[in-house]
Amino acid sequence: MRYEFVPANNDSRLDHVGTYKRTVPVSLERMYENALDWEHLPHLHSSSFAAIKMVACGAWGWRARVTSPGGEDSLLELRLDRSCRRWITRNIEGPSQGAEIWTHVFATGERQLDLVIDFFVPNVPAPSRDKVGMAYARAYETLYDEDVWMMSERQRRLDQRLDSIRVKESTQVEVPDASALPVAVVLAGRDFLVNRFADEWVVYPAACPHQLGPLTDPINEQGEVTCPWHGYRFDVRSGRCTLGGSQQLGRVPTVAEKDGTLILTF
Ligand code: FES
Ligand SMILES: [Fe+2]
Repeated sequence: MRYEFVPANNDSRLDHVGTYKRTVPVSLERMYENALDWEHLPHLHSSSFAAIKMVACGAWGWRARVTSPGGEDSLLELRLDRSCRRWITRNIEGPSQGAEIWTHVFATGERQLDLVIDFFVPNVPAPSRDKVGMAYARAYETLYDEDVWMMSERQRRLDQRLDSIRVKESTQVEVPDASALPVAVVLAGRDFLVNRFADEWVVYPAACPHQLGPLTDPINEQGEVTCPWHGYRFDVRSGRCTLGGSQQLGRVPTVAEKDGTLILTF
């Protein structure tokens, strides 16, 4: 006998409680990148996740301990199967233990995907399935609103990077009024932000060196900006990642003020 048959166990029965479908304006590459990106959960999706600790990750997917905003811990695993254009997220431990979310993706254009997401939850009585399924669908609507924003913005920045050429080496900006800071400036084909910190002008890239997230949040008292996508923090004067990461903000133009004008020079 080459296999063992294990009869169904009532405790492990999974009920299909519903399907969420959505068309998203992103490429398959961005979508897979997003599925494998465990690190963004508590930052981009802070209304659903408070913290995450990675246990294992690779091209296969990831396993991580997550904490909900209410303080409940779960062990989640996501397994990506590119040949089936599918990833399965399993709740291994925690309040939703046994739940599985199967996501299939169909490319309908170079940057357009149809997503079909099925929710399987153990032991849901038939009369409650629609209600449980709707709750999952509502949660996924919010998660995908946030993910589409991140994927689209990242794609826009990647496209812009390809287009960027060094067209000019200096630029002038009228001294902005403090309530309008930061000011976006394009110099040598790249986007920068001009801002004030500790009574000085500071200039830093508008896009995060990690995955090109927007660095438009206010500067904190320590002189840091925080990227909303994965929570990396950067010192706006030294460019260092203050969480100890290897990313740096990179070269920035100098800024000088003269007769009510800021002059930015590379
Ligand atoms: S893009 Fe990941 S922290 Fe900024
Ligand atoms: Fe996400």
